[in-house]
Amino acid sequence: MDFRKPLIAGNWKMFKTPAEAVETAKQIVALASATTDVDVMIAPPFTALTPVAEVVKNSHVSLGAQNLFWENEGAYTGEISPSMLKASGCDYVIIGHSERRQHFGETDENINKKIRAAIKNDLIPVVCVGETESERESEETFSVLDKQVRTGLEGFGPNDLETLVMAYEPVWAIGTGKTATTNQAQEVHQFLRALIGKSFGNVLAKSLIILYGGSVKPNNVKELMGMPDVDGALVGGASLDPETFGKIFLFQN
Ligand code: 13P
Repeated sequence: MDFRKPLIAGNWKMFKTPAEAVETAKQIVALASATTDVDVMIAPPFTALTPVAEVVKNSHVSLGAQNLFWENEGAYTGEISPSMLKASGCDYVIIGHSERRQHFGETDENINKKIRAAIKNDLIPVVCVGETESERESEETFSVLDKQVRTGLEGFGPNDLETLVMAYEPVWAIGTGKTATTNQAQEVHQFLRALIGKSFGNVLAKSLIILYGGSVKPNNVKELMGMPDVDGALVGGASLDPETFGKIFLFQN
């Protein structure tokens, strides 16, 4: 099997002041210095990006943002542009998180524009997809994911997507303590990889990093990572505490 380096990413959502974020990031950098076998990324709120960039500089912890707008500048009150994120030290940007779809009306069409803007500005897009509980119960999981991926990635070619990271986050598993079973996660990850293969070719499909997100904790990460198509995790609540997050990326429970 092709080698895909594991990526463990922390999405801090709307938590932590700049001072708290700096303190947490310092501890994460110290813990992450114990391994080079895994890439670690943290995504603090916008207001903490600049000071956290200073902390992670010269470490192998990368910085990500949680969202972006697709224009680089203009009269768009309240928005943050890809070039601003790049200049603030970000390498990654999370796009299309279900909380943005649910609370801020984000659509697959918006997400497509955001992915394009990220790539153009040399930011690695971490594109989130996932079904709700009712969609899973009515057996629409695969059709929902198919639409999210096809519309989100419409108009791209394989070369555009070389850095793409996907995150499968079943909405019913986010912040609920319910994790998808390893088989449920593997089944979807395999489906996503095959879909990327069909649309963009096997070379991209084989190198594509697909993260699982939804109640990942130190006690379930190893089992999830044992699945052939699970290449890492996008961690919410458990990434806020450096020791807990450290246990996740060091695979200790
Ligand atoms: P939790 O790990 O808190 O369930 O959140 C997952 C998530 O939404 C990461 O983006």
